[in-house]
Amino acid sequence: MGETGSVLVAGSANLDFVVRAHHVPAPGETVLGRDFSTFAGGKGANQAVACARAGGAPTRMLVALGDDAFALPLESGLRSAGVQLEVVRCTDRPTGTAFICLSDDAENAITVAPGANAALRAEHLPSLQGIGSLLLQLETPLETVTAYARDATASGVRVVLNAAPARALPEELLADVDVLVVNRGELATVAGSSGSIAEQLARVPVATVVVTLGAHGCCARDPAGWHLQSAFPIAAVDTTGAGDTFCGVLVAALGRGESLDKALRAACAASALACTRLGAQASIPSSEQVQALLAGHGDADPGQRRTLAVACGLPEEAAAGVPTSAHRADPA
Ligand code: RIB
Repeated sequence: MGETGSVLVAGSANLDFVVRAHHVPAPGETVLGRDFSTFAGGKGANQAVACARAGGAPTRMLVALGDDAFALPLESGLRSAGVQLEVVRCTDRPTGTAFICLSDDAENAITVAPGANAALRAEHLPSLQGIGSLLLQLETPLETVTAYARDATASGVRVVLNAAPARALPEELLADVDVLVVNRGELATVAGSSGSIAEQLARVPVATVVVTLGAHGCCARDPAGWHLQSAFPIAAVDTTGAGDTFCGVLVAALGRGESLDKALRAACAASALACTRLGAQASIPSSEQVQALLAGHGDADPGQRRTLAVACGLPEEAAAGVPTSAHRADPA
């Protein structure tokens, strides 16, 4: 299922208004920022650009945009990355926007005004003929995401859901997801419980779940067991869009028929590179840049892998073996 064919990303596009400041303001606080810039963003559009730059399968995107000036850089950015667009044009809503404060230690706080993204409906889904994977996020209405996942599953298309921004998900949607990608906070929300990653994953009824762990790397649980991938060390400037880069590159690699281990390694490398530059789509690396980083890195050191295993709630022994080897999910 979903091994070959194009990737369809159905989701959001936002124009990001970014101001840099010493720190992200606390509630009630005003901070004097510095330079201000706009960048093409939105989780869906960032993921589509990452997928297209990773190469392999052609990338298409279903996106809702306003009939306004903010839509222009978003459309041209997507098209120049090689993404084939299906645009739902809204005359009664503005293009989505995001207001981002970026701190000097590369942290951010983001508020999204969804605008046209909220107008994406079930009936907008194009024919899935020739589509191998459908990549979804949660910046468009949940009932739309649920309907798209249902239609894709019925058509034999692999459904990958990045559950961001975090929210609880209905069982009906999870039942139609083949690969779920979450960060630590999103996993806790989807699992609806505290505890270790291993404990929370046990509560998520999706065959393959990938958990991104920032500077630690990532882990995944699939029917074969656990997969651990250490992070690629970098000096982070801006982490905006790093998770989206991870998702787009992961889906591109899976769409090329690569193993989950290889896909996780490429996704971790690409998201590391995305943190070294400003902006969401502006920071997404090309496939050549990712290959160069991968070629320059051998096996992760055992200490790093042990830290990763422990961060996942696994015994340290799970870190043994080659960097991306699978370990049984439940040894009992
Ligand atoms: O994931 C980063 C993205 O979140 C930004 O580009 C912003 O638009 C928000 O959607």
